[in-house]
Amino acid sequence: MNEEKIEKLSQVNKRAELGGGEERIKAQHSKGKLTARERITLLLDPGTFLELDKLVSTRSYDFDLNKKKIHGDGVVTGYGSINEKQIFLYAQDFTVLGGSLGEMSAKKITKVMDHAFKSGCPIIGIIDSGGARIQEGVMGLSGYGEIFYRNTMASGVIPQITISLGPCAGGAVYSPAITDFVIMVDKISHMFVTGPEVVKTALGEDVGFEELGGATTHGKYSGVAHFLAKDEYECMDITKKLLSYLPQNNVEDPPIALTSDDPNRIDSKLATIVPENPYEQYDIKQIITSILDNNEFFEVHKLWAMSVIVGFGRLNGRTVGIVANQPLHLAGSLDIDSSNKAARFIRTCDCFNIPIVSIIDTPGYLPGLEQEQHGIIRHGSKLLFAYCEATVPKLAVIVGKAYGGAYIAMSSKHLRSDINYAWPTAEIAVLGPEAAINIIFRKELAEAKDVEAFRKKTVKEYRDKFANPYIAAEQGFIDLVIDPIETRPMLIKALGALANKRESRPPKKHGNINL
Ligand code: HXC
Repeated sequence: MNEEKIEKLSQVNKRAELGGGEERIKAQHSKGKLTARERITLLLDPGTFLELDKLVSTRSYDFDLNKKKIHGDGVVTGYGSINEKQIFLYAQDFTVLGGSLGEMSAKKITKVMDHAFKSGCPIIGIIDSGGARIQEGVMGLSGYGEIFYRNTMASGVIPQITISLGPCAGGAVYSPAITDFVIMVDKISHMFVTGPEVVKTALGEDVGFEELGGATTHGKYSGVAHFLAKDEYECMDITKKLLSYLPQNNVEDPPIALTSDDPNRIDSKLATIVPENPYEQYDIKQIITSILDNNEFFEVHKLWAMSVIVGFGRLNGRTVGIVANQPLHLAGSLDIDSSNKAARFIRTCDCFNIPIVSIIDTPGYLPGLEQEQHGIIRHGSKLLFAYCEATVPKLAVIVGKAYGGAYIAMSSKHLRSDINYAWPTAEIAVLGPEAAINIIFRKELAEAKDVEAFRKKTVKEYRDKFANPYIAAEQGFIDLVIDPIETRPMLIKALGALANKRESRPPKKHGNINL
């Protein structure tokens, strides 16, 4: 072949790969950020990236956009593998018009999303963008619409992961919000509907980038971010680990990992974890890590809504989703945020054929004016809905309190949980002893000569009668009361028995979960 032509190809490619050029790459690095291509290299198995649409450029003429070549139109797209699994991805290139979304960058992104959808592979979006490209008007907006539509169609079909690595403004936040997981990096990622300048103009509020949309804001307060990383390197490691728990799509099972951890391993420590005194706090994570393979728990939403803990782990090599009440926070009660957090996680597991293991110790839904005014009824109902709707194997272990609505909500048999165990420390009742006594003995308490003695006696009676798992076990609502030390082998056996579980739901367009 003509050498000149090959040389030209090489030059065209080289120039395209420089995106916004040397100066802007330097500026990107000076902010402590990697470029789109460097990020892709870090994420994918070495040498596996194949770029698509490298030579695409903008075709807009407004605001002199045609005066210089817009290399790649602000996004790098393509495919490759992560831990030998095929994925598709796009990475916005902030060095080109601030990674803003115009007509052609939207076409590039939607093309790669379509490939991922048709091939049944995960799609990863690395976002670093000023949102819709202002100069292109409705073309940028329509591009976002096309992306949102595809995100929604792909939801529950292929895993969609967002890595937020820079400003994610305007439309650049809503696509991530539809995806399954959002990962943010401290001081690098900022997600907001509009930036501080617009907030100042519109509302007169003075607020900085970090407070408005930093990793802490979304990892701790809003729940937008599922994972927080200290830098871009850790963020890629989190993405790889996350993918290792997930199947390629909704018709495959998650990969089974080889494990050297004995499926019959018992742990004598579990016998003493739940304190005798029901008011004493303890960390439910001790139970979670004890039962999982190699004590490894990959927590999702670590800092948000901490009265519930959710995350992935493995039991004898199989991925499971853990949902557990955390007595260390709000005594493990279910508030608005923790109901949302658990419900969303249950639905994520159900989409991707991941069995759910619930570990229960909760005094109930959190009562009070603040919770009622903000809709604990509406939000709390999502948890019930999510457990009822899920058809993956559902296992539960009640280790402590399971009172009232929270007994029902937390993977009870009545919501079609498959195998429910309880520890001898389980307390299954309509209300906690003190609240129950105040109601059923209101008159007697008012008339008692020694109120405290009467209360003590009745609380003890109530506790002896109801604060145990045996009445529920007699009804078959608990399949077995187990020795805590045997929890891991008992769960692994149940999981094995349910491995081919098939359960269907009535055909319908979709349920009407109370959003
Ligand atoms: C075109 C943009 C752009 C945009 C940034 N740039 N955002 N160009 N359209 N949306 C360009 C800048 O002009 C600049 O070009 C370069 O990118 C780098 O931007 P800087 O402002 O210099 O960088 P920085 O100081 O880091 O600030 C980044 C930023 C800021 C926070 C993202 O640029 C910003 O606030 N942009 C607008 C964000 C916004 O409000 N977007 C909403 C769009 S509406 P030069 O050549 O000067 O270096 C939207 C609607 C969708 O998205 C709705 C969906 C529901």
